[in-house]
Amino acid sequence: MSNTVLLIGASRGLGLGLAKQFANEGWHVIATVRDPQRADALKTVANVRIEALDIDDVAGVDALTQRLSGITLDVLYINAGVSGSRALSADTATPEDISQLFMTNTIAPVRLARHMLPLVNPRTGVITFMSSIMGSVETGPGMGMPLYGASKAALNHLTRTFVAELGEDTRLTVLSMHPGWVRTDMGGAEAPLDVETSCRGMVEQVKRAAGQGGHRFIDYQGEPLPW
Ligand SMILES: NC(=O)c1ccc[n+]([C@@H]2O[C@H](COP(=O)([O-])OP(=O)(O)OC[C@H]3O[C@@H](n4cnc5c(N)ncnc54)[C@H](OP(=O)(O)O)[C@@H]3O)[C@@H](O)[C@H]2O)c1
Repeated sequence: MSNTVLLIGASRGLGLGLAKQFANEGWHVIATVRDPQRADALKTVANVRIEALDIDDVAGVDALTQRLSGITLDVLYINAGVSGSRALSADTATPEDISQLFMTNTIAPVRLARHMLPLVNPRTGVITFMSSIMGSVETGPGMGMPLYGASKAALNHLTRTFVAELGEDTRLTVLSMHPGWVRTDMGGAEAPLDVETSCRGMVEQVKRAAGQGGHRFIDYQGEPLPW
């Protein structure tokens, strides 16, 4: 029987690349998009079940959890994220900018993981949160996009809280993943890495993590990153 991954935010960029990579490796892929009318690229990938979800919508998360009941997820991969404008800083951001950035990047991923936890294989399951090196409190400052970095640092913090609340008996593995700097709408044309290389690496890391337990902040090559 093939493994199953639920990918949150797979319309384009790294989410689409992850859907292709998992599908190429024979996984059953369930992939969410905000607007199924704009999911043409994802629809060309074989073995993918497409579901509609805005990660910010808690009722939508619960409805999807219901629709997936009875399915055991080997991997829950929470990729959806926004960067906001590059110029966003504590001086320039409006309350709406801050609310959007921290809702989508910080609160919604952890809330979704909590709601969908019962679907994840309790022995070998892997929950991956898409973080960023910019969210490293130690090395992120100075890299630019300070509010985006802060939203990912806060995601890392809430993820550690989520893991602490799982208790010591859990066999689940949790990853906070940095994909590298990748050429996507968010990463921009000057990024050194292509989507395929990053996604091949990330899928490899996720497969290796199954059954290991614990929580690690790593990049797509498996290099540990400082919190
Ligand atoms: N690219 C990089 O260099 C890089 C580096 C570090 C970390 N990351 C992280 O990697 C993840 C993917 O980035 P990317 O480069 O692929 O970005 P992207 O090309 O801008 O794609 C972002 C994805 O997130 C989805 N999304 C945004 N808001 C959402 C919401 N409220 N609900 C559901 N889906 C939502 C988008 O869906 P729509 O098509 O509907 O907008 C899209 O599929 C993000 O978490 C990002 O922070 C990227």
